[in-house]
Amino acid sequence: MKAALVTDKEKVEIREMDVPAIKDDEVLIEVRTVGVCGSDLHLFKGTHAFRKPPCVLGHEIAGDIVKVGSKVTKFAVGDRVTVEPHLGCGECEFCKKDLTNICLHKSAPGTATWTGTFVEYFNAPEKTLYKLADAISYEQGTLIEPLAVAVHALSRSTIKERDCVVILGAGTIGLLCLVVAREMGFKTIICTDTAPFNREMAKSYGAAAALDPLAEDVEAKVKELTGGRGADLAIVCAGAPNILSQASACVRKRGEIGIVAMITRDIPFYCYGMVFNEQTMYGAMTYETKDFVKAAEMINGGLELKGFVTQHFPLDQTQEALDTLLYKKGNVVKVIVTVK
Ligand SMILES: NC(=O)c1ccc[n+]([C@@H]2O[C@H](COP(=O)([O-])OP(=O)(O)OC[C@H]3O[C@@H](n4cnc5c(N)ncnc54)[C@H](O)[C@@H]3O)[C@@H](O)[C@H]2O)c1
Ligand SMILES: [Zn+2]
Ligand SMILES: [Zn+2]
Repeated sequence: MKAALVTDKEKVEIREMDVPAIKDDEVLIEVRTVGVCGSDLHLFKGTHAFRKPPCVLGHEIAGDIVKVGSKVTKFAVGDRVTVEPHLGCGECEFCKKDLTNICLHKSAPGTATWTGTFVEYFNAPEKTLYKLADAISYEQGTLIEPLAVAVHALSRSTIKERDCVVILGAGTIGLLCLVVAREMGFKTIICTDTAPFNREMAKSYGAAAALDPLAEDVEAKVKELTGGRGADLAIVCAGAPNILSQASACVRKRGEIGIVAMITRDIPFYCYGMVFNEQTMYGAMTYETKDFVKAAEMINGGLELKGFVTQHFPLDQTQEALDTLLYKKGNVVKVIVTVK
């Protein structure tokens, strides 16, 4: 079968690989669509924490089951599915609390024991599978994984008031946070992004305002739109050096700041504002199974996300797909690679 691997810095090759064998509790999926994610860009750029070339790309997937292991009971050949792409060790204190996302010995696609999803055939344990509703396209099914990231980012908040949320960065994850915030009943949603296309997308998906942080005073504008009070919650979905101080400045007393962006360098933070206003800051790492269940329900229930897919490429052009997202060639939100 064909597979797309990162073989060197910013270099993708299509290579032949064996179709993976399946264990008794696994299925084999004929892959239809895969999504390019920010973490694939980390592998592509050579900055990923543990994935190093040569490595098969990808963890976002939709496809058809073509083979089932002897112990698989809930899925059959022909089922259209997506995969919750992580496995816990089952033993650590976090697995015992159903927190696979922070398992001490987590495995995920693109590691020694589990290949990435940019392949023609992908193996996955039955417990990681979710059926796609008949009316849902493979490409919309591929969005369940990033939507689960957004569900988790907002579910980690403990605030009760839902007057206003500020989402800093309106790329795929920020825009999906916007959609989740809307579904959760936030009355006013304010987004920021440096790219005009992303600000337009934010408005078309329900943001009351979409601010350009390079041209507008984000804090002043948020205060103006909230009668001077500030937002209940800020979600950080971009990695600019001032982003944490900006988030804190936008949030009210006793408000919360959730960080989704993977900022892997030191950045300054004005922490007195957080202390003076008794704010709380939390991190959000991928998703718990309950978040994935929720995301699958939302998409299978017909949540409209068609505008999110801005580019398509065949598997042979995975190099172009990654270049498009990394260098923002054109108006880019989600890039989908069609395998079959
Ligand atoms: N925590 C997790 O589990 C998890 C999962 C997926 C992605 N992520 C991370 O979340 C972040 C967002 O992911 P994405 O896929 O949406 O990336 P993206 O590149 O599509 O989106 C980032 C957006 O931020 C905008 N931006 C740049 N500078 C800005 C600024 N100063 N203010 C506001 N917006 C600005 C960009 O124009 C872009 O639209 C990345 O850091 C990614 O690695 C985290
Ligand atoms: Zn992803
Ligand atoms: Zn574990």
